[in-house]
Amino acid sequence: MTDKVRIDTLGANSSNGNNQTYLARQAEFESNVRSYPRKLPLAIAKAQGVWITDVENNQYLDCLAGAGTLALGHNHPEVLQSIQSVIASGLPLHTLDLTTPLKDQFSEYLLSLLPGQGKDYCLQFTGPSGADAVEAALKLAKKYTGRSGMISFSGGYHGMTHGALAVTGNLGPKEAVDGMMPEVQFMPYPHEYRCPLGIGGEAGVKALSYYFENLINDVESGVRKPAAVILEALQGEGGANPAPVEWLQRIRKVTKEHGIVLILDEVQAGFCRTGKQFAYEHAGIEPDIIVMSKAVGGSLPLAVLGIRKDLDVWSPGHHTGTFRGNQLAMAAGLTTIKYLKEHNIADKVAAQGEWLKGKLADMQKRYPVMGHVRGLGLMIGIEIVKPHETPDHMGSYPADPELSALLQKKCFEAGLILERGGRNGTVLRLLPSLLITNAELEIFMDKFENALLAAGIKPV
Ligand SMILES: Cc1ncc(COP(=O)(O)O)c(C=O)c1O
Repeated sequence: MTDKVRIDTLGANSSNGNNQTYLARQAEFESNVRSYPRKLPLAIAKAQGVWITDVENNQYLDCLAGAGTLALGHNHPEVLQSIQSVIASGLPLHTLDLTTPLKDQFSEYLLSLLPGQGKDYCLQFTGPSGADAVEAALKLAKKYTGRSGMISFSGGYHGMTHGALAVTGNLGPKEAVDGMMPEVQFMPYPHEYRCPLGIGGEAGVKALSYYFENLINDVESGVRKPAAVILEALQGEGGANPAPVEWLQRIRKVTKEHGIVLILDEVQAGFCRTGKQFAYEHAGIEPDIIVMSKAVGGSLPLAVLGIRKDLDVWSPGHHTGTFRGNQLAMAAGLTTIKYLKEHNIADKVAAQGEWLKGKLADMQKRYPVMGHVRGLGLMIGIEIVKPHETPDHMGSYPADPELSALLQKKCFEAGLILERGGRNGTVLRLLPSLLITNAELEIFMDKFENALLAAGIKPV
């Protein structure tokens, strides 16, 4: 008989190694492409709720939560129970796209969260990553319209596969990758602190809305009418940057008038993260395609598109993928999305976001390196700046990516896991479990302030 895999020998009670030995072995085993361990150098032994424990028994407040995947935090008892009940039920763990009673329930419930309780939408289960769901959405928009172009926005993040990367703003991972999907036109995305038109305020948003509409209408814009516009209603990786409501509404209006498919990428912002079920709801708009992943699988891999039925021009099998039938993910996902709805977590998150932004605004007065606090619900960003340098004509200070990186490190040393995002990683981002309590957010505030002090930042 072969040895069973013994996870306990790798866990907290292990005498096998400390963080450094695990990290060194990881570096030996894995490609140079690994990223998080460079910023968060730990080996995780266990996790519960908003807390992570490493193999040396250090505890961290986890404000990354699997990049927003863990809507109910680590190892939520109801999520674990749902996984165990699938295992005990005799259901196959994986079914391609064959249906099961569990998948049937999951689909009905997920559809009920979409606009109009989903009566005009159908679902497409894609390969389990957000990027594959984005690929499917782009392809479907092309097939539906018979056009090939895409409009995307600066600061947008849609994944790392070729098509998804082509519509992603960040130039770093695009360098030296030739043969990107052609005909992608980037447009400027509004930014309260760093208006891309250099105008700022209401006038900046109005100009951006006008610019978008004009580009679509202008027969000499040089840009062929696209198949789709893809965007996040609140950019996550782009630095917790919410779109103004009137801008989103204008985009919906113009895309509808021109028969352009509007794809809302809710991979990160969906499922109550921003204080609404979906982030587009802040603008009261209805997308043509909704891209969902992360929280929809309740911490396990799953990705789904919500497609307006009249757009569903797929022929059978024209976008497949082996792993579209993960029953454990559907069980965990159904438990998660039901929990969020039944406990009205969206309202709790909305209120908490405002409370937290208020607290951070107070802290900002004492620590002007916190140049801009933004976001909605529990998707909050703090842009780190150089407050002693000359601000630009909109009153915004130069970004300080070095200090932001140092603060992430000091947070980690203070037992706080925070992600960075935005241009050059200058935005410290909060993306915790949606069940985090105000008391735990107070701990976040204390640890964050300790990190500022440890980085040599003195309060004013
Ligand atoms: C908005 C958004 N879209 C797409 C993706 C890609 O998802 P995945 O990493 O699962 O491919 C991400 C990942 O962070 C995301 O934040």
